[in-house]
Amino acid sequence: MVMKDFLSLAEAAEIIGKSKETLRRWDNEGILNAVREPVSNYRVYRKNDVQVLLGNLFNKEIEDTVSNFIEPLRDYSVLELFAGAGGLAVGMEKSGLKCVALNEIDKWACQTLRINRPHWNVLEGDIKEFNFSKYRDSVDVVTGGFPCQAFSYAGKKLGLNDARGTLFYEFARVVKEVNPPICIGENVRGLLSHEKGKTLEGMISILDEIGYNIVPVKVLKAINYKVPQKRERLILVGVRKDISIKYEYPKPHNKVYNLKDALKKGELFKKNVPKSEGAKYPQYKKEILDLIPQKGYWRDLPLDLQKEYMGGSFYLGGGKTGMARRIGWDEPCLTLTCSPAQKQTERCHPDETRPFTVREYARIQTFPDEWKFSGSTAQQYKQIGNAVPVNLGQEIGYSIINFLNKYSVNQD
Ligand SMILES: C[S@@+](CC[C@H](N)C(=O)[O-])C[C@H]1O[C@@H](n2cnc3c(N)ncnc32)[C@H](O)[C@@H]1O
Repeated sequence: MVMKDFLSLAEAAEIIGKSKETLRRWDNEGILNAVREPVSNYRVYRKNDVQVLLGNLFNKEIEDTVSNFIEPLRDYSVLELFAGAGGLAVGMEKSGLKCVALNEIDKWACQTLRINRPHWNVLEGDIKEFNFSKYRDSVDVVTGGFPCQAFSYAGKKLGLNDARGTLFYEFARVVKEVNPPICIGENVRGLLSHEKGKTLEGMISILDEIGYNIVPVKVLKAINYKVPQKRERLILVGVRKDISIKYEYPKPHNKVYNLKDALKKGELFKKNVPKSEGAKYPQYKKEILDLIPQKGYWRDLPLDLQKEYMGGSFYLGGGKTGMARRIGWDEPCLTLTCSPAQKQTERCHPDETRPFTVREYARIQTFPDEWKFSGSTAQQYKQIGNAVPVNLGQEIGYSIINFLNKYSVNQD
């Protein structure tokens, strides 16, 4: 058995994006057959079988029959905190929501927002310095992707004041000041397990204290929302306690888009991706990545190079399928990071040995080609890598409008 041609259960699960349990079940049901490694008797998967299955999963010529589109019954206003380069804001704008103000500390991200939307009210600076009371009872939704930080626990139910000094405190403080019918926080999946779940539990108890019921938390997969990238975002929705309307998450679409859809003319974009600046790999990394085929990763290297490139990680066992990875045209891209050439998360272009350019990055995050980014190339990558994919933001926007429409009708 030439192990190079096989994947462990963990690796196959990571590549396919399903749990090990699902893969075991698929093996029993004959959907994806494993073979047994002769020495350990562990399940291993033929690489080729996994590729064929992925091809079937992602390249189905299916028509998307799901739509979350809904028209707003009146103008609804958003206050967007931690706005970055505007991924969520542009998405919500596309859904029909109106941004009344956006707060962001980073000067380059603020410049990005201003050059693209001169009419937007961009409040540049540390959120701690702003008071939002003037928006009280006049904003329909407060949104924000607060960076995740630990709280210090006194061993009791966490209250707003216990969270002072964190950016979540600021998010909750603004929600309290503005008193919108609904608030939406977004974060990384890791928040679920941060401090063994206590951080999220603390956030929920704080929002409860300031008068919001929390909808069961969900992690949305961007690939289900017209985004050609396997990114995930945790969504934390609070509904003001005097409102009995149920918030519903956007329904997942049944069509999945691939890298080809991001960079070439097609359903997602009317033209091929425009040319732009981009980072380069250092020579050593380029030589390594030259040896990797599309959809391949470090395991495709000769054994001596695997050991050299992976260093100590080589001996830690399988997985790490995002290292020295070359993306295939017919699969969604792996999650983009804030810096495209960083170790452990290489996402190499399918045909050329280089990271994605700035405009390719923006496409994979579903930013329109007209959306310009300010600052150095590194600053631009950072803003794009930090963003909520625009199309996911748009679908979240529809779910907010759906909620607000029902609320408006109830108010009349
Ligand atoms: C995950 S990013 C948000 C991305 C944004 N939602 C988007 O879709 O493009 C978090 C942002 O919070 C900003 N930030 C961090 N600390 C801040 C503070 N004290 N006040 C205001 N903004 C802050 C960062 O500069 C960063 O742009």
